[in-house]
Amino acid sequence: MPDSVGGGGGGGAEEASMGYLAELFSSPLNLALIGLCGFLLYKILRERFQKPDEPPPREPELAPLKKRDWTNEDIRQYDGRGEDGRILVAVNGKVFDMTRGKRFYGPDGPYSVFAGKDATRALATFSLTEDIKEGYDDISDLSTSQMDSVREWEEQFMEKYVFVGKLLKPGEQPTEYSDTEDETSSSRSDEKSKHE
Ligand code: HEM
Repeated sequence: MPDSVGGGGGGGAEEASMGYLAELFSSPLNLALIGLCGFLLYKILRERFQKPDEPPPREPELAPLKKRDWTNEDIRQYDGRGEDGRILVAVNGKVFDMTRGKRFYGPDGPYSVFAGKDATRALATFSLTEDIKEGYDDISDLSTSQMDSVREWEEQFMEKYVFVGKLLKPGEQPTEYSDTEDETSSSRSDEKSKHE
């Protein structure tokens, strides 16, 4: 008994980690997830390390969108493939202009599936293979923890991108926004981009 505690301590830890690794690589699902993570990381990091000496070309900023409410169909055309390359993404009933996150959501980005779509369910389930519905997605079936995670993403997007209005439920009437409407999210993101 003392032998196995004293002498075998290091070997035990090694064995345990080998066992863990063997288990990790034995399941096809784990392998697929590891592959997906590696692919996403590759896509995210590829651009950064391509030309380390050259700063990325600065694209002209698009004119800000006037705040309004949107249907799923309205946002679908803003998937980054249009002439102006604008990208709208909806999360938890809010629509964000994510054009400045083109390296993530643009046609070649790792999260291009979200462009022009309601990404709530995919973000809640942390799955890129989850069906992203074309029309309105009723998210009342999501669990409390999934909704907590959605709200965290929403806060992150409020900080980083421009909030351009609500995503309308079927039959819901659009809000009348005044021209002087407080654009907290937009001014925050402008401030942030000055420091970048
Ligand atoms: C499991 C493998 C994954 C890895 C290794 C990974 C890696 C990363 C990294 C490194 C970033 C930060 C990039 C940066 O700020 O420069 C990022 C951002 C992000 N990831 Fe992932 N990710 C993974 C899976 C996912 C999944 C499954 C989703 C969604 C369902 C997701 C959604 C996002 C979003 C929305 C951003 C934020 C982009 C932004 O700031 O607008 N990721 N990911």
